[in-house]
Amino acid sequence: MTSITILGGTGYTGRNVAREAVSRGHEVTSFSRHAPEAPVEGARYLTGAISDQLAGLVDASDVVIGALAPAGELEAGLRGVYSELSRLAATKGKRIGIVGGYSALRSAPGAERFAYTGDVPPQFALAARVMAEVVDDLENNSEPGLDWFYISPAAGYGSYAPGEKLGRYRTNGNVAIYEADGSSTISGADFATAIVDEIETPSHSRQHFGVAN
Ligand SMILES: NC(=O)c1ccc[n+]([C@@H]2O[C@H](COP(=O)([O-])OP(=O)(O)OC[C@H]3O[C@@H](n4cnc5c(N)ncnc54)[C@H](OP(=O)(O)O)[C@@H]3O)[C@@H](O)[C@H]2O)c1
Repeated sequence: MTSITILGGTGYTGRNVAREAVSRGHEVTSFSRHAPEAPVEGARYLTGAISDQLAGLVDASDVVIGALAPAGELEAGLRGVYSELSRLAATKGKRIGIVGGYSALRSAPGAERFAYTGDVPPQFALAARVMAEVVDDLENNSEPGLDWFYISPAAGYGSYAPGEKLGRYRTNGNVAIYEADGSSTISGADFATAIVDEIETPSHSRQHFGVAN
């Protein structure tokens, strides 16, 4: 049993991770500003201001999952929150997993992240850049002893397309995965499965990886 705190545990990704982790017997705490309308039975829900509570949340956890979204007050500020999370986790010897965007992936090994190519639609460009900078920070500026992973979903992932639990997913390092027809999807449940699999059996320590069905 692992003590898992999910920052943003009431959001689309966070609640799927909470549901999956509780179902596997883990101790799950969600942190967000507001209480959930439909709590996952067996999860604990905390609310408040993240700046006040981050250190305590890290102290109380084996693993902290960042499932916050770069929107609203966190659109530009999320990089700072995750930087502080990294610093605290390194100091306290805790593992972190950051949920990022598809745009942090690459078209081929060594290619630029999509977020930096100028091809991201303008309405998503800032959020894509923020989440790409978060993984840049982890790869280039984090404490060498920090145990982190950063996971990106397929392009078609999102609350608008929850999909079905297929019970399978593929990974290809930090390179995006496509079907022959050019589509790239992962259901909410399968993405959560990949995250909890990585928590239970670390195989991407200090790595960025993408998952797709
Ligand atoms: N195709 C893609 O690339 C794709 C699609 C979707 C998501 N994503 C990525 O997945 C990650 C999670 O996104 P999501 O769509 O699952 O998120 P979401 O549904 O928007 O949920 C965000 C969560 O963060 C909480 N939150 C927001 N501001 C907060 C604050 N200041 N302090 C504490 N909690 C706060 C929210 O609850 P409160 O509002 O109550 O605080 C909620 O629990 C992001 O990195 C996003 O980029 C990628």
